[in-house]
Amino acid sequence: MALVFFRGAEKKRLNAINQSRSVPPKQVILGIESSCDDTAAAVIVDGMLKSSVVSSQLEHVAYGGVVPELASRAHERVIVPVVEEALRQAQILKSDLSGIAVTSGPGLIGSLLVGVSFTKAMAVGLGVPFIGINHLEGHLSSLYLGPNGPPSPHLSLIVSGGHTQLMKVTSPVTAELMGRTRDDAAGEAFDKVGKILGLDYPAGPVIDERAKKGDPTFHAFPRTRLQGYDWSFSGIKTSVLYFLNALSEKERESLLEQSLNDIAASFQEAVVDMLVAPVKKAMKETGIRHLGIVGGVSANTRLRTKLNDLVNSMDGHLYVPDLEYCMDNAAMIAMAGYQRMIQGESSPLTLTADPSLKLS
Ligand code: KG4
Ligand code: ZN
Repeated sequence: MALVFFRGAEKKRLNAINQSRSVPPKQVILGIESSCDDTAAAVIVDGMLKSSVVSSQLEHVAYGGVVPELASRAHERVIVPVVEEALRQAQILKSDLSGIAVTSGPGLIGSLLVGVSFTKAMAVGLGVPFIGINHLEGHLSSLYLGPNGPPSPHLSLIVSGGHTQLMKVTSPVTAELMGRTRDDAAGEAFDKVGKILGLDYPAGPVIDERAKKGDPTFHAFPRTRLQGYDWSFSGIKTSVLYFLNALSEKERESLLEQSLNDIAASFQEAVVDMLVAPVKKAMKETGIRHLGIVGGVSANTRLRTKLNDLVNSMDGHLYVPDLEYCMDNAAMIAMAGYQRMIQGESSPLTLTADPSLKLS
C-alpha cells in the first residue's frame, strides 16, 4: 500500500503548512470508520474536531438494504481519498499524527477488515500507535464532540440501524449495559416497515418527514413492553404487515396513496413510545437526570421531542449530537480514540476485526 499520498503542488502546500506553524499540535488523532456502508475519516487535535469526511455508498439503495460484498469493495475503493481529504481539511501532515483510531467491530466483517487492515498498515508505516474502537463506544463519544458534553454519570440511549441499547455511562471510557433489544433494532424497524410501505432505504428519515404531515392517532399499532429495560421491535413490523394484508389489493393501494403520512406517523409514534418507556423507568430508578441519545435514530424529530419533555419533567438535560454526527461518522471514532489515547491506551497489532464485538 502506498503510504505517501501527496505529490507535486500538494507537497508544496503541505510544506507551507509545516513552515507556518510556531508550535506543533500535541495529540493528533486520525479516526477511521468503515463498519457498514459509510467510509469516513476525521481528525481531532487536542480534543477539538478539525475535520470530518464521510463517503456514503449509494449502490445499496436499489437493493433496499446494505449488500455486504458491495460495501467492502466500495470501502476499499474510497478509503485512501477519504483519509487524504480529512487530513487536507484539518491541515494536518501524516507526520503530525500521534495515533490512529479505527472501528474494529461490531459490523460487517468485510467492511471492518478494510478499515482495520488499512489502519494497521498506516500506523506501522508511520510508527504511531493504533487503537481499535467499538462502534457503539464511538456513538457514545459523539456527545463529547461539542463544547458541552454530558457529565458522568449519565444515561445514553444508542439507537441505530443495528443496535438499540441503554447504557449507564460512568466516564468517557466506561459504561454499563442496562437494557437492549431482544430482536430488531429500532432503526431496522424503521427500514423494514419503510420497505413494506414502498419507501426508499434508509426509511428512517423518510418516515420522520412524512410523519410530520400525518396523524399519529390514525391507527393504534400495539406497543410491546418487556420486563426491565429491554425492548422488542419485531412485533411492530408484523403488525404493519397484518394491517395492510387485511385489505384487498385495491383498498391497500388507495390507503397507501391517501394515508401514507398517517400510517408513517402512527408507526413512528408506537416506536417512539416503546423507546421512551424503559428510559423513563431507568431515569426514575437510578435518579440520573442527564440523558444522551446517539446513533442514526437519534436524528428522529419525534423521539427528540418526547425525550426532551421527559428530561424537562425531571429537571434534567438532554444531550444530542449535531445531526451530522448522529449517523455513522469518523469524528466519533477519533473522539473515542482520543479519550483512550490520552489515558495511554493503544491496541496490539494482533487485534482483529470482530463483527460481533460487545461493548464491555
Ligand atoms: O447509526 P447509523 O448511521 O448506522 C448504524 O450504525 O446502524 O444509523 C442508521 C439508521 C437507519 O436505520 C436509518 O433509517 C435510521 O438510522 N435513521 C432514522 C432517522 N435518520 C436515520 N430513523 C428515524 N428517524 C430519523 N430521522
Ligand atoms: Zn452506527
